[in-house]
Amino acid sequence: MPLRLDYTNMMAPAIAGGITDAEWRAIEARFATAHAGVAALHGEGTLGFLDLPDDRDLHRATQEYVARVARRAGADALADVVVLGIGGSALGPIALRTALRPPQWNLLDDAGRGGRPRLHVLDNVDPANIDALLGRLDLRRSLFVVTSKSGGTAETMAQYLVVRARLVSALGDAAAKERLVFVTDPEKGALRAIARAEGIATLPIPANVGGRFSVLTPVGTLPAALIGIDVAGLLAGAADMRTRCASGTLRQNVAGTYAALQFLADTAHGRHVQVLMPYGDALRDMADWFVQLWAESLGKHRVAGDEGVGPTPLAALGATDQHSQVQLFMEGPPDKTVTFIAVEQGARDVEIPALHADIPELAYLGGHRLGELLDIERRATAGALARRGRPNMTLQMESVDAFGVGELLMLLELATAYAGQLYGVDAFNQPGVELGKQFTYAMLGRADAEAARKEWELLPKPDPERVI
Ligand code: PA5
Repeated sequence: MPLRLDYTNMMAPAIAGGITDAEWRAIEARFATAHAGVAALHGEGTLGFLDLPDDRDLHRATQEYVARVARRAGADALADVVVLGIGGSALGPIALRTALRPPQWNLLDDAGRGGRPRLHVLDNVDPANIDALLGRLDLRRSLFVVTSKSGGTAETMAQYLVVRARLVSALGDAAAKERLVFVTDPEKGALRAIARAEGIATLPIPANVGGRFSVLTPVGTLPAALIGIDVAGLLAGAADMRTRCASGTLRQNVAGTYAALQFLADTAHGRHVQVLMPYGDALRDMADWFVQLWAESLGKHRVAGDEGVGPTPLAALGATDQHSQVQLFMEGPPDKTVTFIAVEQGARDVEIPALHADIPELAYLGGHRLGELLDIERRATAGALARRGRPNMTLQMESVDAFGVGELLMLLELATAYAGQLYGVDAFNQPGVELGKQFTYAMLGRADAEAARKEWELLPKPDPERVI
């Protein structure tokens, strides 16, 4: 069954103060314009993420590279893949690994992983973590996937420099190059230049696909294929969702419906915080991926100098966060929507043994199953929120398989593009992160950061009276 969205609990009168029929009729017309806007951008060639399910050349090149690496045998056989990257270059691979490989993939032995490598994704420059990981890897049996669309992000370049020096020192220059592959812009950037000059293997991120929309490029598909994820299934699910969102009629467009609901909830009902709460560990990192997508795409000035728009995304996990955040969702400020992701449980559900029949706090659980409990808790939480007038909706997935995850990724990416149109912002840039980058360059002494250094000097110094 395809992925479905149940938004009953977003609407009045099911929810007191929910979205009204009149608001919904008005947004239908606005959505048609938003849909046309996305189509126009696609027509201009700027929304490459929509074409990725059909990019046969790109996916063939990825599979060929994977087949080549998989031929390494014996003492050279691949044991560990390490993605060096950050933000959109890291969150997609993490989400795919968690969703589509058995739990605790990196802790399984070779047989448990079917002979496939472990997958580590750095996503930061914390020295303790990087040093510890590099210290325990067999570098000869490792592959480092340096992932950066721009090919120059400070964190990723720093990770690369550390790794490259360790590889050269352990294996020598020629063997070091064999342990590197760059995933980067087809033409531009420092990584591309190094790859050209030194003959390092590369796979391209199409020029018209930005970081947080790149999970279906080799950014996500290369690590996924290396650890045995069904990339074809992923792409098929994404293609199917794209087809389901071809219409400018809101009722027929699930991504459009999701975007319109969240937009209205934020702008007309003060629901500025938008929680994504999968019920199940497999999708927990999908929520982090979504947070970056929604935040970096929509939190913007509409025109230079305005006060800024955009919802605040928040990741939660059911049932874990019922014991952490749900109190806030129920009784805190009425400024949130909650989107649950429900997964129908498969055959691997675990029965809860009927022990302690004489203790009421335990006896009622016996004979049920863990997955059943998880799903009942989701329904109970959704119902409780609804009873308190807290809007929520549910994305229902049949199972966490490659097709379903492909559907989910495309739904949320398309929803982001539509929401960008509804808010009137460019969902595909991130000018707000530039000043912080420039200040970093200035403090590290980068030659072209003189203007930023001067601006940095103008900032107030810490006031001893205000340091406690
Ligand atoms: O979504 C984005 O564009 C960003 O989050 C980038 O992915 C992140 O800044 C890393 O950039 P790059 O891939 O150029 O190294």
